[in-house]
Amino acid sequence: MRKACGWDAGMVPTWFVQQKEKTRIMAIFYLPGSTTPVGMGGIELVDFTNGDKSIADIDEKRGCVVSLFLYKKFRGRGYLPTLLSVCEELAHNMGLEELTIFGMSKAHGYEKFGFHSFKVETRNYGGSNNWETRFLKKSLLCDNGTHCGESDKIEDQDD
Ligand SMILES: CC(C)(COP(=O)(O)OP(=O)(O)OC[C@H]1O[C@@H](n2cnc3c(N)ncnc32)[C@H](O)[C@@H]1OP(=O)(O)O)[C@@H](O)C(=O)NCCC(=O)NCCS
Repeated sequence: MRKACGWDAGMVPTWFVQQKEKTRIMAIFYLPGSTTPVGMGGIELVDFTNGDKSIADIDEKRGCVVSLFLYKKFRGRGYLPTLLSVCEELAHNMGLEELTIFGMSKAHGYEKFGFHSFKVETRNYGGSNNWETRFLKKSLLCDNGTHCGESDKIEDQDD
Protein backbone atom coordinates (compact mmCIF):
# COMPACT_ATOMS: atom_id res chain seq x y z
CA MET A 1 0.00 0.00 0.00
CA ARG A 2 2.86 2.42 0.74
CA LYS A 3 4.28 1.65 -2.71
CA ALA A 4 0.95 2.74 -4.22
CA CYS A 5 1.06 5.82 -1.98
CA GLY A 6 4.50 6.78 -3.27
CA TRP A 7 6.32 7.45 -0.04
CA ASP A 8 7.53 5.80 3.16
CA ALA A 9 7.41 2.20 1.84
CA GLY A 10 10.91 1.73 3.30
CA MET A 11 9.66 2.83 6.73
CA VAL A 12 7.21 -0.03 7.18
CA PRO A 13 9.60 -2.38 9.11
CA THR A 14 10.46 0.52 11.48
CA TRP A 15 6.74 1.24 11.91
CA PHE A 16 6.21 -2.33 13.15
CA VAL A 17 8.98 -1.85 15.76
CA GLN A 18 7.50 1.50 16.87
CA GLN A 19 4.04 -0.04 17.07
CA LYS A 20 5.44 -2.72 19.38
CA GLU A 21 7.08 0.01 21.50
CA LYS A 22 3.68 1.77 21.61
CA THR A 23 4.99 4.98 20.06
CA ARG A 24 2.87 4.48 16.96
CA ILE A 25 -0.38 2.84 15.93
CA MET A 26 -1.25 2.16 12.30
CA ALA A 27 -4.58 1.12 10.82
CA ILE A 28 -5.70 -0.30 7.51
CA PHE A 29 -9.19 0.78 6.43
CA TYR A 30 -11.56 -1.62 4.66
CA LEU A 31 -14.86 -1.13 2.91
CA PRO A 32 -17.52 -1.92 5.52
CA GLY A 33 -18.28 -5.64 5.72
CA SER A 34 -15.61 -6.56 3.20
CA THR A 35 -11.95 -7.50 2.92
CA THR A 36 -11.30 -4.75 0.36
CA PRO A 37 -8.64 -2.36 1.68
CA VAL A 38 -9.27 1.28 0.81
CA GLY A 39 -6.38 2.98 2.57
CA MET A 40 -4.54 3.54 5.80
CA GLY A 41 -3.55 6.00 8.47
CA GLY A 42 -2.09 6.11 11.91
CA ILE A 43 -0.98 8.04 14.95
CA GLU A 44 2.54 8.84 16.10
CA LEU A 45 3.17 9.53 19.78
CA VAL A 46 6.64 10.86 19.00
CA ASP A 47 7.57 13.28 16.22
CA PHE A 48 10.25 10.97 14.84
CA THR A 49 11.28 13.45 12.15
CA ASN A 50 11.93 16.59 14.20
CA GLY A 51 11.30 15.71 17.84
CA ASP A 52 8.78 18.56 18.00
CA LYS A 53 6.78 18.03 21.19
CA SER A 54 4.05 20.45 20.06
CA ILE A 55 3.23 17.83 17.41
CA ALA A 56 3.51 14.60 19.40
CA ASP A 57 4.42 14.01 23.02
CA ILE A 58 3.60 10.87 25.04
CA ASP A 59 3.90 12.71 28.38
CA GLU A 60 1.44 15.40 27.27
CA LYS A 61 -0.91 12.75 25.82
CA ARG A 62 -0.55 14.34 22.40
CA GLY A 63 -0.53 12.24 19.21
CA CYS A 64 -0.23 13.15 15.55
CA VAL A 65 -2.33 11.74 12.71
CA VAL A 66 0.07 10.53 10.02
CA SER A 67 0.25 8.59 6.78
CA LEU A 68 -3.36 9.13 5.73
CA PHE A 69 -3.81 7.51 2.36
CA LEU A 70 -6.64 6.29 0.14
CA TYR A 71 -6.16 4.38 -3.10
CA LYS A 72 -6.97 6.79 -5.93
CA LYS A 73 -10.23 5.09 -6.86
CA PHE A 74 -11.56 5.65 -3.33
CA ARG A 75 -10.73 9.37 -3.18
CA GLY A 76 -13.30 12.13 -3.53
CA ARG A 77 -16.06 9.99 -1.98
CA GLY A 78 -16.04 11.78 1.37
CA TYR A 79 -14.19 9.02 3.25
CA LEU A 80 -11.75 11.42 4.94
CA PRO A 81 -14.04 12.29 7.88
CA THR A 82 -14.50 8.56 8.58
CA LEU A 83 -10.73 8.00 8.48
CA LEU A 84 -10.24 10.88 10.89
CA SER A 85 -12.97 9.70 13.25
CA VAL A 86 -11.39 6.22 13.39
CA CYS A 87 -8.05 7.88 14.21
CA GLU A 88 -9.80 9.87 16.94
CA GLU A 89 -11.30 6.68 18.37
CA LEU A 90 -7.86 5.01 18.37
CA ALA A 91 -6.40 8.08 20.08
CA HIS A 92 -9.22 8.07 22.62
CA ASN A 93 -8.60 4.39 23.38
CA MET A 94 -4.89 5.15 23.88
CA GLY A 95 -5.80 7.80 26.47
CA LEU A 96 -4.63 10.71 24.35
CA GLU A 97 -6.00 14.17 25.07
CA GLU A 98 -4.95 16.01 21.92
CA LEU A 99 -4.53 15.13 18.26
CA THR A 100 -2.47 17.06 15.75
CA ILE A 101 -2.30 16.79 11.99
CA PHE A 102 -0.30 18.54 9.30
CA GLY A 103 -0.34 19.12 5.58
CA MET A 104 0.66 21.56 2.89
CA SER A 105 0.14 25.10 4.17
CA LYS A 106 -2.20 26.08 1.34
CA ALA A 107 -4.50 23.10 1.98
CA HIS A 108 -7.41 24.08 4.17
CA GLY A 109 -9.88 21.37 4.96
CA TYR A 110 -8.99 19.79 8.29
CA GLU A 111 -10.65 22.80 9.98
CA LYS A 112 -14.06 21.45 9.04
CA PHE A 113 -13.30 18.37 11.16
CA GLY A 114 -12.64 20.43 14.28
CA PHE A 115 -8.88 21.00 13.92
CA HIS A 116 -7.42 24.47 14.49
CA SER A 117 -4.27 25.76 12.84
CA PHE A 118 -1.54 26.56 15.40
CA LYS A 119 1.54 27.13 13.29
CA VAL A 120 2.91 27.22 9.76
CA GLU A 121 6.57 26.33 9.23
CA THR A 122 8.87 24.60 6.80
CA ARG A 123 9.18 20.83 7.25
CA ASN A 124 11.60 18.49 5.55
CA TYR A 125 9.96 15.58 3.72
CA GLY A 126 13.23 13.91 2.73
CA GLY A 127 16.14 15.15 0.66
CA SER A 128 15.66 18.71 -0.50
CA ASN A 129 11.86 18.58 -0.10
CA ASN A 130 11.33 21.44 2.34
CA TRP A 131 7.72 22.47 2.13
CA GLU A 132 5.70 25.08 3.99
CA THR A 133 3.48 23.06 6.28
CA ARG A 134 0.37 23.89 8.30
CA PHE A 135 0.05 22.23 11.72
CA LEU A 136 -3.37 21.86 13.30
CA LYS A 137 -4.64 20.47 16.58
CA LYS A 138 -7.84 19.23 18.15
CA SER A 139 -8.64 18.59 21.80
CA LEU A 140 -10.16 15.20 22.58
CA LEU A 141 -11.43 16.46 25.92
CA CYS A 142 -14.86 17.86 26.69
CA ASP A 143 -15.26 21.26 28.35
CA ASN A 144 -15.20 19.63 31.80
CA GLY A 145 -11.77 18.09 31.10
CA THR A 146 -12.95 14.48 30.68
CA HIS A 147 -12.69 12.48 27.50
CA CYS A 148 -15.82 13.16 25.47
CA GLY A 149 -18.34 10.43 26.20
CA GLU A 150 -16.56 9.51 29.45
CA SER A 151 -19.22 10.94 31.78
CA ASP A 152 -21.93 9.10 29.82
CA LYS A 153 -20.06 5.82 30.34
CA ILE A 154 -19.75 6.48 34.09
CA GLU A 155 -23.48 7.22 34.31
CA ASP A 156 -24.19 3.99 32.43
CA GLN A 157 -22.15 2.04 35.00
CA ASP A 158 -24.17 3.58 37.84
CA ASP A 159 -27.45 2.29 36.43
C1 LIG B 1 -5.78 12.83 1.89
C2 LIG B 1 -6.81 11.83 1.40
C3 LIG B 1 -6.81 10.61 2.33
C4 LIG B 1 -8.19 12.53 1.49
O1 LIG B 1 -9.19 11.70 0.98
P1 LIG B 1 -10.21 12.26 -0.13
O2 LIG B 1 -11.11 11.16 -0.52
O3 LIG B 1 -9.42 12.92 -1.20
O4 LIG B 1 -10.98 13.35 0.70
P2 LIG B 1 -12.56 13.56 0.84
O5 LIG B 1 -13.20 13.49 -0.50
O6 LIG B 1 -13.09 12.63 1.87
O7 LIG B 1 -12.55 15.06 1.33
C5 LIG B 1 -13.39 15.56 2.31
C6 LIG B 1 -12.96 16.97 2.64
O8 LIG B 1 -11.65 16.91 3.23
C7 LIG B 1 -10.84 17.96 2.73
N1 LIG B 1 -9.54 17.42 2.35
C8 LIG B 1 -9.29 16.42 1.48
N2 LIG B 1 -7.97 16.18 1.42
C9 LIG B 1 -7.37 17.05 2.27
C10 LIG B 1 -6.01 17.30 2.64
N3 LIG B 1 -4.98 16.60 2.13
N4 LIG B 1 -5.76 18.28 3.54
C11 LIG B 1 -6.78 19.00 4.06
N5 LIG B 1 -8.07 18.79 3.76
C12 LIG B 1 -8.38 17.84 2.87
C13 LIG B 1 -11.48 18.55 1.53
O9 LIG B 1 -11.61 19.93 1.80
C14 LIG B 1 -12.83 17.87 1.42
O10 LIG B 1 -13.81 18.83 1.55
P3 LIG B 1 -14.80 19.15 0.32
O11 LIG B 1 -15.58 17.87 0.12
O12 LIG B 1 -15.60 20.27 0.85
O13 LIG B 1 -13.90 19.49 -0.83
C15 LIG B 1 -6.55 11.38 -0.08
O14 LIG B 1 -6.72 12.48 -0.94
C16 LIG B 1 -5.17 10.78 -0.30
O15 LIG B 1 -4.96 9.60 -0.05
N6 LIG B 1 -4.21 11.59 -0.81
C17 LIG B 1 -2.86 11.14 -1.06
C18 LIG B 1 -2.06 11.05 0.24
C19 LIG B 1 -2.05 12.38 0.98
O16 LIG B 1 -1.93 13.44 0.38
N7 LIG B 1 -2.19 12.32 2.34
C20 LIG B 1 -2.26 13.52 3.17
C21 LIG B 1 -0.98 13.91 3.72
S1 LIG B 1 -0.44 12.83 5.01
